[in-house]
Amino acid sequence: MALVLGIETSCDETAVGIVNERKLLANVISSSVEQHARFGGVVPEVASRAHLEAMQQVIKQALKDASVTLKDIDAIAVTAGPGLIGALLVGVSSASGLALALDKPLYGVNHLSAHIAVDQLDNDVVMQPTIALLVSGGHSSILQVNNLAKDVIVKGATIDDAAGEAFDKIARIMGLGFPGGPVIDKQAVSGGRDAINFPRGLTQSTDLEKHPYDFSFSGLKTAVSRYLQQTPNYKKSDVAASFQEAVVDVLISKSLSACKESGIDRLVIAGGVAANSRLRELAKQRCELSKVELRIPPIGLCTDNGAMVAAMGSLAISQGVAPSQIGISADSAASIAQVIW
Ligand code: KG4
Ligand code: ZN
Repeated sequence: MALVLGIETSCDETAVGIVNERKLLANVISSSVEQHARFGGVVPEVASRAHLEAMQQVIKQALKDASVTLKDIDAIAVTAGPGLIGALLVGVSSASGLALALDKPLYGVNHLSAHIAVDQLDNDVVMQPTIALLVSGGHSSILQVNNLAKDVIVKGATIDDAAGEAFDKIARIMGLGFPGGPVIDKQAVSGGRDAINFPRGLTQSTDLEKHPYDFSFSGLKTAVSRYLQQTPNYKKSDVAASFQEAVVDVLISKSLSACKESGIDRLVIAGGVAANSRLRELAKQRCELSKVELRIPPIGLCTDNGAMVAAMGSLAISQGVAPSQIGISADSAASIAQVIW
């Protein structure tokens, strides 16, 4: 049994999770989102400073929640990329210091892989192989996960905006606030999903040939902007619901095509956008119809957290992956191919 402490600071959440193999013991999050809201997006410098200020307290609280002390920890995991460089460096420095002081192994892990790894907590289902739909504020991709610690194939990705970014941009244009995902999700509840026929990016047959598993949300963004300009008395809830439907429809259709083509009848949906209520609902319906086993982490573990980082560290240990060197650097643009540093 390995007790792993995971640190996440890639964006605006200072988060620490503690897991014992697959068991979640603590998950503490301090968010600086309110400091960024008035700017309509995360301000990197402000986020880094907030991480520095929150780090000690968040670690202390996580240890308290898990009823363990630092001496009990067997390994430290930390998000080493992708993300905001200054923010990542606060986490990597803290984790390196802890690993050095405690004389325990350090695992620099990929934030994207960690989003998927969190699905393994508190359940003992076999996850691999699986198709994974990874949808967050900075990334949207369809992956074939043969082994999350060692063998992940990118089948497709967004060619412009990420899904979460599209939610954030549309919410900003509509004056709904930041981050956009949760507010659009809420607005959409009372709106008509088919009220406005917004385009589904890269789904025409000519596009599908070249981009079967890629996404594009820029055309949708333009269509929504144009609609808002041309319809002064638009109903916010209808725009939110119809926009949301256009996004989740494409995400799920392409993921299920990837399942079919690869002969893998399991789909994991992860990342902040996986918290979306309509995405969760529609994925459940369509996976049932297609006889694909669907796994989506609990809503609270979809957006950034430390438990996912600890889960990824724990998975690396169980797969016999070598620890990282103390002194690893953070990589703001790391690809999913780099799972462990
Ligand atoms: O994974 P995450 O917490 O951070 C990144 O790694 O980017 O994802 C944040 C993104 C934001 O764009 C946010 O608007 C979106 O996830 N998001 C949602 C919902 N909750 C968060 N998008 C749609 N519906 C939601 N309920
Ligand atoms: Zn994330």
